[in-house]
Amino acid sequence: MTESTRSPNLQILLDHAEAAIAAHGTPAMLKAASLIFGRLRENSGQEVAIEPQRLDVCRHLEAVYAGMAAEASPLPELASAFMALEPRLQWTRRKAAQPGDMPFYDSHANATLIGQGGIEQREDVWVGATLMARDIVYPVHDHPPEEIYLALTEGEWWNSAMDWTRPGPGGLIYNPPGIAHTMRSGAKPLLALWLLPVD
Ligand SMILES: [Fe+2]
Repeated sequence: MTESTRSPNLQILLDHAEAAIAAHGTPAMLKAASLIFGRLRENSGQEVAIEPQRLDVCRHLEAVYAGMAAEASPLPELASAFMALEPRLQWTRRKAAQPGDMPFYDSHANATLIGQGGIEQREDVWVGATLMARDIVYPVHDHPPEEIYLALTEGEWWNSAMDWTRPGPGGLIYNPPGIAHTMRSGAKPLLALWLLPVD
């Protein structure tokens, strides 16, 4: 193990995510988490300076943080750590999003924390965040790696083996490798972290 050069706030975010999965994860989540966090412990990747970017939808972050601060631990701690890191993030639209896809196009943003295009560059783990305004449905998609979502706000998740599910703030969702899946916000904006082991 090399000495960690990871930003303290990024490490705090990861530690809370790992603890939430250890406490409440299903066996499949625990297995994915041992891959993800094992790799993240092994080395801390390379911190790179990326061009920070906010999209218009990021105006909802303040309300999201206020909501998280009012929840039980670890949501307030996650909010503080995320808030501290956020100015370094490059928020972008989903690659496949088209300007004609309204309101989705202007109502969502993704930011990579760890992985290609993230503030910690590496190939074996992908950690990021999705923000959506209220009443927005993310397009159904799939990808080879399995995925764990940590909900930081209200929101609902679906995959082809699971009905729409509301994990609640601090709750977890698991998407098996390759499965079709999506999420949607309700009366308030949605913020969630996603964590994937990448092969
Ligand atoms: Fe996904």
